[in-house]
Order: sequence, then C-alpha cells, then structure tokens
Amino acid sequence: MTAQLIDGNALSKQVRAEVAHRIAELKARGVQPRLSIILVGDDPASQVYTRHKVNDSTETGLAATLERYPADLSEADLLARIRALNADDSVHGILVQLPLPRHMDAHRVIETISPAKDVDGFHVASAGALLVGQPGFWPCTPYGCMKMLESIGFGLRGKHAVVIGRSNIVGKPMALMLLQKNATVTICHSATPDLGAFTRQADVIVAAVGRRNLVTADMVKPGAVVIDVGMNRDDAGRLCGDVDFEGVRQVAGWITPVPGGVGPMTRAMLLVNTLEAAERATA
Ligand code: GUN
Repeated sequence: MTAQLIDGNALSKQVRAEVAHRIAELKARGVQPRLSIILVGDDPASQVYTRHKVNDSTETGLAATLERYPADLSEADLLARIRALNADDSVHGILVQLPLPRHMDAHRVIETISPAKDVDGFHVASAGALLVGQPGFWPCTPYGCMKMLESIGFGLRGKHAVVIGRSNIVGKPMALMLLQKNATVTICHSATPDLGAFTRQADVIVAAVGRRNLVTADMVKPGAVVIDVGMNRDDAGRLCGDVDFEGVRQVAGWITPVPGGVGPMTRAMLLVNTLEAAERATA
C-alpha cells in the first residue's frame, strides 16, 4: 500500500482562489482588506517569511504593508505603534513577526494587538476563544492542517488523533481543533515514553516537534493519516519534516509531504484570517 498525497500546494491554491473571490466582493462594497506586518531587526529567515506574506497578500487582493524597524527599537515604541494600528480602522489584521529581539517581551507585545486584528491567532483571547469554542482567530498552521483533513473528507468523529508536540502555536491549538471535531485526542511530547505505543493507535498523527525521522513506519497504523508539520534539514541540507516520508508512505493511507504540505497551507490561512478580520470589522 502506498499512501495518497495531500498536496498542500494544490489545496492552498484553491483556498487562495476562494479568498481572492471574497476579497473582490469586499472591494465591490468599498472595503479594502489590509494587513500590517511589523518586522523588528534583520533576522534573515524573518525577512524571507515577511516578504512571502506581503506577496501572498497582494496576489489575492489584500493590501499588505511591511513596517521594518531596527533591532534596537524600544519595546515602548513598538507597543505605541501597535496601539496606533489597533486604532486605525483601515487596518484589519496586525502581525508582529517573531522572534523579537531579546530585550522585548514577546508575550506583552502580542497581548497589545487587538484580538479583533490578531490574524496570527497568538493572543490569549484567541487561544481562549478556541478553548471554549467561540469565534476568534485560529493559529494558521493547525488551521491549515484541519483544512487538509477536510479536503480528503476525513471524518474525525470518534477517531483517535495523536498530536506530537505541545507548543502554543501548533500542538495545543491542534489538539483543541481536533477535539472540537469530536476526535479522541492524545497529546504526546518530549517527556512521553514509548511514543510509538501511542502513535500505533492513531487514526490521525500530527507531528509537530521539529525532529527529523521522529515518526517512522513501524510507529504508524496501516491506513492512518499522517500530517507532518516539521521543518528540518537533512544531511544534504534539503528541507524535510518530522516524518520518515519514504518509509511511512508505505504504511499510511494519507500523508503530507515536506516541502509542499503544511507550509503552503499555513501561508494560505493567514490570508483567510485577514479576510475574515476585514469581513467581521465591516459586516
Ligand atoms: N515566525 C515564524 N512563524 C511565524 C508566524 O506564523 N507568525 C509570526 N508572527 N511570526 C512567526
């Protein structure tokens, strides 16, 4: 048996086309959806990510502005700028690229963003809304994983989902989203002994740790859905996930590749959240 591929590139294209359509509708009633991105310092990866976010936005009809500040910007000045954007009705989404320079308290910075504009879904109000099943913004990576499961028509009700990783931006929200769809959810992490004993029971595995070859074929139940959130480099410097793709694809029913899986979906869901923010603000 060879797993079917869940193609994040193809699915993200569909999502972006839907977003573009809804943006056109907003524009037809005089609303220009707008995303403000703040980048502090010159971290090379952050520069690439924020450039992608701007390009993705403009391609779908969102107006995106990237504000760049030097690494020695004071936290007080950053908070003042965020408050000004909170008060600006023409801005619907605010994203502060992480990591921030060490002299800043990232938590305080994120909490300063208005929850109504928190398109990353990182604010405690967004996390709390997800916890209790209220409308809010879902973090883009787990949201994209849910879209992937939806795209293959995988009914989660009563299924056992094993999430490996407990970060605030992937593992924990992922578990809550799966729970909301009536899956039975197990969260595994670095202190979990015998990870395979858990994953072998899983109908769905979401690997979000950041360790290459964490999930191998012997750890996967035949036919299971395997979603790989990992972003690592192999010995040859090639991008790879947390899952031994070649081995696991022989056992799994569905699998996401790296690259071309969760990554493009994460990018697409930021556009969905920003559109959603604009629609809510102007409804
Ligand atoms: N740094 C790496 N990924 C992200 C992300 O999704 N959002 C923000 N704000 N910073 C990041």
